Amino acid sequence: MKNQMIEKFQKIFGSDGDIKVYFAPGRVNLIGEHTDYNGGHVFPCALTMGTYAAVRKRTDNKLRFYSENFEKLGVIESSLEDLTWSKDADWTNYPKGVMWAFGEKGYKFDTGFDMYYFGNIPNGSGLSSSASVEVLTALVLKDTFDFDVDFIEISLISQFAENNFNKVNCGIMDQFAIAMGKEGHAIFLDTATLSYEYAPVKLDNAKIVISCSNKKRGLGDSKYNERRAECEEALGELQKVIDIQSLGDLTEEAFERYKSAIKSDVRRKRAKHAVYENQRTIKAVKALKDGDIEEFGKLMIASDTSLREDYEVTGKELDTLVAAALKQPGVIGSRMTGAGFGGCTVSIVKTDAIDNFIEKVGREYKDTIGYAADFYVADIGGGPVVL
Ligand code: GLA
Repeated sequence: MKNQMIEKFQKIFGSDGDIKVYFAPGRVNLIGEHTDYNGGHVFPCALTMGTYAAVRKRTDNKLRFYSENFEKLGVIESSLEDLTWSKDADWTNYPKGVMWAFGEKGYKFDTGFDMYYFGNIPNGSGLSSSASVEVLTALVLKDTFDFDVDFIEISLISQFAENNFNKVNCGIMDQFAIAMGKEGHAIFLDTATLSYEYAPVKLDNAKIVISCSNKKRGLGDSKYNERRAECEEALGELQKVIDIQSLGDLTEEAFERYKSAIKSDVRRKRAKHAVYENQRTIKAVKALKDGDIEEFGKLMIASDTSLREDYEVTGKELDTLVAAALKQPGVIGSRMTGAGFGGCTVSIVKTDAIDNFIEKVGREYKDTIGYAADFYVADIGGGPVVL
């Protein structure tokens, strides 16, 4: 891949000078959805699919970006003096945002650079192609300009860029899962404290299958920020009757005792999801550690029900994929993953049942929705690297 990236870079930007190549993964969340901005736990893992970049420093202040995934847009130019968001900058608002975020934290760039991107994560799939680009860019900047930041700081700077430059109020899960990925392991992260633990994903004779709805969405145009605001309002109402910092501080029992403080049915449902999903995530990790994959699968299914009924972030496409999955033999668990409103589902499927799963779920999805879904048998990969 390294040599291919260098060749592709040279075709666009010419062949002199030192070119370095980098990689950052995508991620899939196994359980713990919409908990990260509620001070709860998440349990994502990095994927072997991800984003590559080939980079060469320039002697002037120009920034030139090219993505094979957006070939039609050609080279998009900018400069160190122009680290502001613009519609015309299109996808380059992600790398520019990360540069801006480093600038805000006091880091300085002495020159511009040319950068060629290629990603094999389907865009808008809910597998964090944008966080992958952000963390990748942050690693490139660290390496190119000798910035003294570790991978946790890289995840925080990338999230800061997403929140403040691209104006998506996301939590820390995606950037953290990508920056801290570890082969064969999922990351049990407490988003309130950023304390984390790696848990080996041992699934006996089963594998993680990602079903991609191909319904495109971006967090910006989804109801993501609205859900976050609803939870914040519910938290404010609860704080009038109980001393908590976040919804993640509540057990199910405490929530049931105090929930009448939340004055709207809708906000009560949103908060219920955040509280119960956090507790489910803690239970699911324990089940996995105990080797109880069946229990892990049941918690995944309960997570999906809560996201559909209480958090209302699924939609017909994701619901069709999960319902079809649960009809198939050898399916241990299945749920929507990521922000929702489109994107992907994640299922745990017995290895010898995967072919049937893909055929049957694929057929039912196409018959119901009218276009095809894509399926990936996921491998859990490591974090970002210089190749
Ligand atoms: C998106 C956000 C994450 C998280 C998930 C939902 O992926 O970027 O921070 O909130 O949605 O769990």
